[in-house]
Amino acid sequence: MSGHVSGFDAGTATDPASRGSAISITTATVDDAAQLAAVAAVTFPLACPADSLPEDIARHIATQLSAERFAAYIEAPRHTLLCLRAGDRIGGWSMVVRDQPTDADVLAALSISPTVELSKFYVHPDHHGRGAAAALMRRSLDLAAESGLPGVWLGVNQENARALRFYTKHGFRRVGTKRFRLGDRFEDDFILEQALPGGPGSA
Ligand SMILES: CC(C)(COP(=O)(O)OP(=O)(O)OC[C@H]1O[C@@H](n2cnc3c(N)ncnc32)[C@H](O)[C@@H]1OP(=O)(O)O)[C@@H](O)C(=O)NCCC(=O)NCCS
Repeated sequence: MSGHVSGFDAGTATDPASRGSAISITTATVDDAAQLAAVAAVTFPLACPADSLPEDIARHIATQLSAERFAAYIEAPRHTLLCLRAGDRIGGWSMVVRDQPTDADVLAALSISPTVELSKFYVHPDHHGRGAAAALMRRSLDLAAESGLPGVWLGVNQENARALRFYTKHGFRRVGTKRFRLGDRFEDDFILEQALPGGPGSA
């Protein structure tokens, strides 16, 4: 498949903060879609509350995180998907989206507009606690800042204590709540936000 890259150029960066094998972060191409789907099938369940129904998780993976969906995300305007690579393996991914939010709870919570959404952020357990996620976050925030927009936001499940701690370490603060539909149930998310360099409220 040809590799159209949408959005801004993420470039390539090796990050010595990762104490394992050298990692790099690049913009995804459609050639990465199948491997991204395989990683997502491992990492999405880790972000779900303990009482999520396995069939709901499986359905979300099959419908929202398939290779076809990844190819569509990669080619979508105003979306940029970053791959965390360790050698020739994808060890994580994030997605930065420059569409403006429409969810009423998100709009009510955010204090900075216009904004960028850090829509997805997942790292394979092999790389947890090793600095790789921090490298992916730094590149994701750089990418968000390159948009020129003054803020960045994300949603995270309220029970996902590890991710909440991680996002707080990387400058996000809680500004509200919203609901995320998984199967027939609604899960509760926190809305987190931070100012980007150059925007009002940035240092
Ligand atoms: C969220 C994620 C990207 C963070 O990457 P990581 O490598 O685990 O992050 P770090 O180790 O740098 O930071 C995690 C922090 O949470 C802490 N932590 C770990 N488990 C915790 C728990 N159960 N409760 C509270 N804090 C916890 C760690 O001690 C660390 O904090 P510290 O540096 O102050 O000690 C990664 O864990 C991940 O991909 N998880 C699965 C997918 C996911 O939940 N994605 C987010 C979707 S919104």
